[in-house]
Amino acid sequence: MSLKGKVAVVTGGNTGIGKSCVLALAAEGANVVIDFVADPEATEQLETQVAALGDQAIGVQADVSRVDDLQRLISTAVSSFQRVDIMVNNAGIETRTSILQTTEDQYDRVLAVNLKSAFFGTQIAAKQMIAQGGGGRIINITSVHEDWPMPGNTPYCLSKGGMRMLTRTAGVELAPHGILVVGVGPGAIDTPINAQTVADPDALRRLDAAIPLGRLAQPTEIASVVAFLAGPGATYLTATTIFADGGLMQSSPGL
Ligand code: BGC
Repeated sequence: MSLKGKVAVVTGGNTGIGKSCVLALAAEGANVVIDFVADPEATEQLETQVAALGDQAIGVQADVSRVDDLQRLISTAVSSFQRVDIMVNNAGIETRTSILQTTEDQYDRVLAVNLKSAFFGTQIAAKQMIAQGGGGRIINITSVHEDWPMPGNTPYCLSKGGMRMLTRTAGVELAPHGILVVGVGPGAIDTPINAQTVADPDALRRLDAAIPLGRLAQPTEIASVVAFLAGPGATYLTATTIFADGGLMQSSPGL
């Protein structure tokens, strides 16, 4: 129970990697604020699962691409639990469009949901952490594609490349406040974002073959890294990214 008494906020928290992060942080004793945009029933079920672990969770419907909504998310965390110790900027989408195909709307949406939300989520959470004192942890869920081109998924790669520099710059800027900022870069994970690939046996076989560990990861295998980074064992990690990709980036020229 290394996070007993801590309060975590997870954006995009009722599905995929975010949902696993909520459960992993709660399993370590944190109370959790679950941001979500759709599927309130899934959020309610997750709240019940967190309660079964002996912690409290509250769902907040907020579109984190909007600064007002992010502000309301953090304000709700503070009014409910008095503080924010851990901010997980997890919400993310992709359009799977190339540079030649991408429309202005697709570009704006991907950059706003993935990068703008992480920038202002970091800013608003950091202000709260500084006001309450004692430092904090900000964890940005990026991707192998913060560094590794994925042709046909250009806006997503841009957003994740931006999160890479957000992590590095915010890590340096916020270090004097004791706030550690770390990225977690997943490879291919069995979540809704990869549902199409998982449903297509040939595509799945190709993807599995490109991964040295031979398989997609489960979201719990990313959440365990996040729980570690939020906890007492991760006091000297900041302004960097931990890749959890089964070796994917080191082995494959591209997918
Ligand atoms: C993307 C997936 C892709 C995976 C590995 C993730 O960040 O969201 O679509 O399969 O990276 O390339």
